[in-house]
Amino acid sequence: MKIGIAGLGTVGGGVAKALGAHGELLGLRASTPLEVVAVCDRDADKRAQFDAPQKFDDIKALAASNADLIVELIGGENGAAPMLVEAALNAGKHVVTANKAMMARHGARLAALAEQKGRALRFEAAVAGGIPIVKSLRESLMVYGISAVRGILNGTCNYILTQMEATGRSFEDVLKDAQALGYAEADPELDVGGGDTAHKLALLTSLAFGVKPDLDSVAVQGIRNITPEDISFAREFGYRIKLLGIAKKTQAGIDQRVQPAMVKAGTALADVEGVLNGVVVNANEAGPFFFEGRGAGECPTANAVIADIVDIARGNTGSVFGLPADNLLALSAAPTGSA
Ligand code: NDP
Ligand code: HSE
Repeated sequence: MKIGIAGLGTVGGGVAKALGAHGELLGLRASTPLEVVAVCDRDADKRAQFDAPQKFDDIKALAASNADLIVELIGGENGAAPMLVEAALNAGKHVVTANKAMMARHGARLAALAEQKGRALRFEAAVAGGIPIVKSLRESLMVYGISAVRGILNGTCNYILTQMEATGRSFEDVLKDAQALGYAEADPELDVGGGDTAHKLALLTSLAFGVKPDLDSVAVQGIRNITPEDISFAREFGYRIKLLGIAKKTQAGIDQRVQPAMVKAGTALADVEGVLNGVVVNANEAGPFFFEGRGAGECPTANAVIADIVDIARGNTGSVFGLPADNLLALSAAPTGSA
């Protein structure tokens, strides 16, 4: 499997390093050698850090390279990222991405293209970092249906809220730490404003309920106005403040919302600390499930990206959202405020 990597930042750099360090074993797991044949980044210093037979500064050259699989890790909802993914699929290549903004906005269209071309499009790393929640919803929890998914889906926000609670430090101060640790988006307003959680929630909703991702119907409120005083009042009453993404079936349709919530201390979600994420899935007769793990950062995210690569190399190239793209339903959204 010849691999081309676009974007050599926190995640792409991590993927390139991990494929270099663990390539032999991963090739055995994939039943085929995994070879990085090309890397692409607009920053020459980053390109210089990695060994690859081909190095590009332009995504078009990468899409036209001899790679069988392109890993899109440049980020961004519109522009270069979806352009690269389309070009790669049209050129008959598989694609792996961690880009939730792009998948939440263009996922249905890109899934249809991938399936029409008989190529895989995988995005495990796009939701909850290292937690294998996409594969679990797409391939495991499929028999009894799902009534609700709710979770802490943004590592930056959970890190900020946890640090503010533990140390009383200010919001802005802790946000700087999260940026330095590589958790935050290039535009951190996406994290703290709730937009990143909305992207991830729209993808979980699609996987859980068999609908097209519908970002515009997510009601979004972020954490920018949460103060240390709010956190200590909540604590006094036995609660912790968490930024939750919640999608649930109601009689009026599917309600999707992102909001800071008071979560009872001592419950699974309340105990999710720091950069960890946690997701509760109510899978009807199959029961509730709780997933917890690192939601952001180089290694957990690189792990999820490479797991997708290995899965594709093994021949698992099925539908992108768990149902053929043509069978995904249009989301019937509950009116905002009804749930
Ligand atoms: P970074 O900003 O660290 O890395 C992106 C790299 O791509 C940068 O080097 C950037 O250059 C380069 N780049 C951007 N646009 C282009 C372009 N048009 N052509 C060539 N190179 C380009 O981002 P991350 O690694 O943090 O994130 C990558 C993706 O992974 C995003 O979609 C993000 O949402 C997602 N993700 C990130 C996680 C994390 O923990 N960081 C976790 C899960 C998902 P420059 O620096 O000049 O902009
Ligand atoms: N900025 C994101 C977060 C990266 O903090 O959760 C992981 O998707």
